[in-house]
Amino acid sequence: MSAPTTTTEVALPATALRGKDLLGIAELTPEEILLILDTTEAMKEISQRQIKKVPALRGRTVVNLFFEPSTRTRTSFEIAEKRLSADTLGVAVASSSVVKGETLVDTARNIEAMGPSMIVLRHASSGAPHLLARICRSPIINAGDGLHEHPTQALLDAFTIRERKGRIAGLKVAIVGDLLHSRVLRSNVLLLTKLGADVWVCGPRTLIPMGLDQFGVHTTTSIDAAVEGADVVMMLRIQLERMEGGFFPSLREYFTVFGMTEARLRRAKPDVIVMHPGPINRGVEISSDVADGPYSVILDQVANGVAARMAVLYLLAGGGAHDEVVA
Ligand code: CP
Repeated sequence: MSAPTTTTEVALPATALRGKDLLGIAELTPEEILLILDTTEAMKEISQRQIKKVPALRGRTVVNLFFEPSTRTRTSFEIAEKRLSADTLGVAVASSSVVKGETLVDTARNIEAMGPSMIVLRHASSGAPHLLARICRSPIINAGDGLHEHPTQALLDAFTIRERKGRIAGLKVAIVGDLLHSRVLRSNVLLLTKLGADVWVCGPRTLIPMGLDQFGVHTTTSIDAAVEGADVVMMLRIQLERMEGGFFPSLREYFTVFGMTEARLRRAKPDVIVMHPGPINRGVEISSDVADGPYSVILDQVANGVAARMAVLYLLAGGGAHDEVVA
């Protein structure tokens, strides 16, 4: 299927994703991605009102099951659920029966028995949401699984890019950092290439996963080549907690060779935007001047995360008439 050249015309009805899981960008068509992005626009309008609440998911219960730490994803899912009037429940894994040895499958089966409308799952194991999707009737939303995918992050990133640039097709997007351990990278590469962006990925040779070229991206170890003429620069966190070996000599050396500085950013287009999914390692993958500077849209990404997650929840659980969501 060819990539759409416009990003505003959606051919699918709002009910197209009803009852489905959101396991990854890999499972979505370009049309489904555009439906989510367009619905995010409507949800953003709700988020800008004085009373930021609509009854779209009244009577539905969403369980947030986070087996890994999270600030942005967990908080924004909870805010999104409340803005749609869903009843929400966060399972504190550290004080649940998981610490007594209960498996993920048994935990999920017991939660499922209580009749939730949807389950949002973050887990350290790649494929954990896919496993739950096979055993649960309720739609499963992947909030990040191991090194695999983080689909709602890629959706909010795409929405932020489209909001700033008016399109995604044809843009040069440079993604720089720890490519090996990044589920954000995988979801973004899948989404941006499906929508026709020119994607460049850059990092130390030791942090470039094998086979990345097969996804239709340019791979380089030269940050200057990646950033040259870029419309979008997306920096990825060095995931020290997932590294056991010496992938590079020192954090200082990493910053010298791959860190984003104001000087490096001058190679990009004059209206470049700088993104980062967070949390940021300041002075490692990005300088504070750039992270807090005029080209940064990092906090816009966080704000758009609420609207993107509202869109996903709404489309999977409801996806009904337009006035149901805007009323
Ligand atoms: N971007 C992201 O997933 O951040 P959190 O780990 O804080 O949710």
